[in-house]
Amino acid sequence: MVKLTTYEKEMLEGKMGEFKQIALQNIVKYAEALGAEELCEVTKATVYFGAHPYLEVVESENFDEIFSKMLLCTDKVVPLGEFAERCMCQTCVAPCDQYEWEPLNLTKEFYDKNQRFLNLTKEKGVNIAGSCTPYFTGWLPLYGEHFVTTESSNVLMCNAILGACGNSDGLEAAAWSAICGRTPKWGNHIKENRYGTHVFNIECATETALDWDVLGYTVGKKLPPHAIPVISGNFKKPDIVRLKQFFASLATTSGAEMCHIVGSTPEAQTLEMALNNKEPKEIITITQEDIEISMKALCDEGDKDVQFITLGCPHYSLEEVREAALYLKDKKVKDGVLLMIWTDISIKGMADANGYTDIIKAAGAHLLTSACPLVIGKKCHEGVTGMAMDGAKQAHYMRSETNATIYYGDMYKCIDAAVSGKWEA
Ligand code: F3S
Repeated sequence: MVKLTTYEKEMLEGKMGEFKQIALQNIVKYAEALGAEELCEVTKATVYFGAHPYLEVVESENFDEIFSKMLLCTDKVVPLGEFAERCMCQTCVAPCDQYEWEPLNLTKEFYDKNQRFLNLTKEKGVNIAGSCTPYFTGWLPLYGEHFVTTESSNVLMCNAILGACGNSDGLEAAAWSAICGRTPKWGNHIKENRYGTHVFNIECATETALDWDVLGYTVGKKLPPHAIPVISGNFKKPDIVRLKQFFASLATTSGAEMCHIVGSTPEAQTLEMALNNKEPKEIITITQEDIEISMKALCDEGDKDVQFITLGCPHYSLEEVREAALYLKDKKVKDGVLLMIWTDISIKGMADANGYTDIIKAAGAHLLTSACPLVIGKKCHEGVTGMAMDGAKQAHYMRSETNATIYYGDMYKCIDAAVSGKWEA
């Protein structure tokens, strides 16, 4: 039996309305299935809202019906209610840019539908952020704070770097928590479950964001299920952009939700601290040869024409947008090639203010927000035979979405390909 507070009992009885009641009922069932003894208060949430294609199975235009079936998991149509008052809640990515639809091969009708869905939840307390990197937007759960998020790389960022507590719960459970402000106390919400189990001894290059992107991909491939990696050995201390890439690719090839980086993350000031003074279950060395194997899996061989280039997986920071803009200055994207640079709404605002958006536009590229090709789906890359990208997560998952040749490399190589229309191996 899950122990509930007086406030939680009242919510479960329906005193705060049916919307919250159903969300909490689901959370209690979830807690029972997990064997959690109590709930914890969630004060930060990101949710996967908007007109995502998977919602079309409901075959309805009634948002209350869609939300009830797909997120509240009930056949009863429950009117949308207020989200948790004490929880900062904002949207993760949506299936369309916040401002544009044409470059993505989407219709105005679909854009309007996405905006309608986002505005309906906004009215009930969910800010439109359109970000898979919410830590760049000021959404920052602090040490010991409980969060839910629908972005796997963000689970790692918040647990590992901020010392906040959260699990990869899934889209529906994150929505329930955002509504009722509670989540089962299990997994990473409990200190004893957060210690490292497997040490990764790093012997490969760790200079660039791409190095960390491929390192995360490689560590994830070697990580056993339910293990917590501890990054140790000879590596250059990563900054936030390198960590962003590392966590995104680590969460692509593994189910990791927590990771320690000795000397970088707060719960791993030393190797002993990360392991809670226990012996690791295994010590795995990552060499440059391992990285080469991962590169071969991520980037197809040969030189070929490309028509579709996507940068910013996860979404670019302002510094990355600036870097791309400066590299694009006085260059021109080849006719027939689509070069997309993805970020969130707040960073796009700063890029506008700093003139980076204008430089990107002048080069014939697009600074886009709130989504990415993977989330938008096949519509945005129909007919494309060659793609290039700088995110290992995108390069990995895109393979199941297209028969196009997929090239993976750093921002500069991708921009060069957009300008020439050809990937140079
Ligand atoms: Fe973000 Fe899309 Fe990559 S949601 S992490 S840009 S796959």
